[in-house]
Amino acid sequence: MIRSLVRGAGSALPPRIVTNDELAARLDTSNEWIVERTGIHQRHIAGEGETTATLATDAARAALADAGLEPGDIDLIVLATATPDNTFPATATKVQAALGCGPCAAFDVAAVCSGFLYAMSVADGMLVSGQARRALVIGAETFSRILDWEDRTTAVLFGDGAGAIVLEAQDVGDLGRNEGPGILTSQLHADGKHHDLLYVDGGPSTTQTVGHLRMKGREVFRHAVVNLAQVLGDVVAKAGVRVDEIDLVVPHQANIRILEATARKLGLPPEKLVVTVDRHANTSAASVPLAFAAARADGRVKQGDLILFEAMGGGFTWGASLVRL
Ligand code: UT7
Repeated sequence: MIRSLVRGAGSALPPRIVTNDELAARLDTSNEWIVERTGIHQRHIAGEGETTATLATDAARAALADAGLEPGDIDLIVLATATPDNTFPATATKVQAALGCGPCAAFDVAAVCSGFLYAMSVADGMLVSGQARRALVIGAETFSRILDWEDRTTAVLFGDGAGAIVLEAQDVGDLGRNEGPGILTSQLHADGKHHDLLYVDGGPSTTQTVGHLRMKGREVFRHAVVNLAQVLGDVVAKAGVRVDEIDLVVPHQANIRILEATARKLGLPPEKLVVTVDRHANTSAASVPLAFAAARADGRVKQGDLILFEAMGGGFTWGASLVRL
């Protein structure tokens, strides 16, 4: 049986940190409101010369170093982003050139905050079917470039950054679906009816502008808790594992209240949650791999751990993956 194994992880954050108080100095908001309603204390914001591609490249380099691999060892790059450097070509191809990989497949996946889950699942399918052997899966965003900085209901919520993992196809022999290492199961969903609850009001084929992020936060919140609880339950059942066997949950980091409510619904103790929303805010497709890299760097992740990844975002899109290291 071929499985996709996680070989390494890395991340990159712009050095510039913007605190809630800095935002409160120019918007009708306060540190207290932001912390109480979201759990966010600060976010990293890209500076001049920093783009989705440069952050993605730095995260990918760190993941390759963690895996002990060279750019030439990679034969697939899947990059999740909603803030590409250009409408085309794919930001993944800029990363490929910057790293100096061979002429391997490289493309972007657009599923907004669930993008990393989608990218990981696509890469897993290509590895397991033999189309590639080692993949870089990257989530990278510069949401600061699509925010309406006059809109306090969205400007305080997002940040920039990138995270990456290296996946490697390996023959793990004859194993049950819930035994051994690798991606055990993934499940993805979308429901396009909810387009207007979270979207960008511009694009090449509509307005010929980049546009700004618009969100009806309260409605998104409600859907997020319901959809995530459902997909998490499904993925656990599909893999045939018990909730108490899960060592760590690496969730999309939109709001500490969503993370905690979802964990409660599943019966998972809060100490099993990886939380980075306080430091990174919501970095969309980058948030899950950034949180995973942070947990590894903190020593919270051990070989053999069963990890649940989950995310929900614009589209709506949502999904979950169960992975054993
Ligand atoms: O990553 C993709 C998925 N995204 C999400 O999951 C985000 C989901 N939504 C959320 O996290 C929350 O809904 C928010 C953090 C966006 C908002 O929190 P909330 O508790 O749902 O607040 P609300 O939208 O119900 O607003 C409550 C009040 C409103 O005032 P009124 O109408 O009660 O007078 C807002 O105008 O808070 C006001 N408000 C603010 N006040 C100070 C909204 N934004 C701010 C702000 N500072 N930045």
